[in-house]
Amino acid sequence: MPFDLNALTRPNIRNLVPYSSARDEFHGDANIFLDANENSLGSPLTKWYNRYPDPLQMAVKEKISAIKGVPVKGIFLGNGSDEAIDILYRAFCEPGMDNVIVCPPTYGMYEVSARINNVMVKKVNLTPAFQLDMEALEEAIDLNTKIIWLCSPNNPTGNSLNRKDVEVILNNFDGIVVIDEAYINFSRQRSFIPELPEYPNLVVLQTLSKAWGLAALRIGMAFAGEAIIQIMNRIKPPYNISQAAQELALQALDHVEEVNEMIRILVDERSTLAKALEKLDMVEKVYPSDANFLLVKTRDASGLYNYLAGRGTVVRNRSNVTLCEGCLRITVGTPAENGQLIKQLEEYIMP
Ligand SMILES: Cc1ncc(COP(=O)(O)O)c(C=O)c1O
Repeated sequence: MPFDLNALTRPNIRNLVPYSSARDEFHGDANIFLDANENSLGSPLTKWYNRYPDPLQMAVKEKISAIKGVPVKGIFLGNGSDEAIDILYRAFCEPGMDNVIVCPPTYGMYEVSARINNVMVKKVNLTPAFQLDMEALEEAIDLNTKIIWLCSPNNPTGNSLNRKDVEVILNNFDGIVVIDEAYINFSRQRSFIPELPEYPNLVVLQTLSKAWGLAALRIGMAFAGEAIIQIMNRIKPPYNISQAAQELALQALDHVEEVNEMIRILVDERSTLAKALEKLDMVEKVYPSDANFLLVKTRDASGLYNYLAGRGTVVRNRSNVTLCEGCLRITVGTPAENGQLIKQLEEYIMP
């Protein structure tokens, strides 16, 4: 069956009359706004925050469009990528009936969001090389499989998925293929964004939380064909990105060069940190990383985790995660933080 977005969309969403906000309905010039039950006197902060923000965040999207080369109508902004993930479930997965495929070890929200939406999760583990198990994937897909979640570079393994494998899925799966590229700026691999015109079933997720250094603003981006973006916009809460977040994002998006410089520094630090970690006795393996973190296999993950925490350094213990036995996930810090971490690890006495 070829890709049919209409058939894929849940009937209640297909038939939904979306909420129409005051800011949606009036377009034009006016200087007296008595349409949205805001506080006409202002606010205790500054007079601007008494007004609801642009529901479709057009100014922010125009800047993102210029940077990413995606038309404004192909961009959805969410309160973090996590909101986009949730909205994709609500758009395409009938609770209690449909299923999705996730490929552990991977980002946990695909599964949590499925559980919240009462959508069945089929797990197809990555291979020991942290690549897609194409045969197992083919076997897992059934008529009710609506979304395949791919994360590249993958969290927590740090590697990118083989592009050829992803293309095979895009060409053969009739549901939605989401490629979460939260860490793409730290990778030598190309984004799938240029492939969007070719694949009507593709959704690429990116975020301002990682390379852009704006995790606190909560702005996630979904890039897809206009038809998918329209569906996502119908579902989202009317004012899902606050005025403050929109204003700060607008400012930040003028600083591509500074962001590129931070990426260069973090990528350099990643290799310095990896080399230093490899020299330590308690480290069995540092996995290659295309992200701003390293997955590190150690002889005693829990012991190390507690030791570091006791010294005020927090890393992520991933030793209970599929295929990550004995592993810590360590975010690349500032040069000073990385130096401190290595010093602390050098002082660790193995039990
Ligand atoms: C793969 C991946 N996707 C998405 C996110 C969340 O991004 P956001 O901050 O935009 O919700 C994370 C956060 O760690 C992540 O690792």
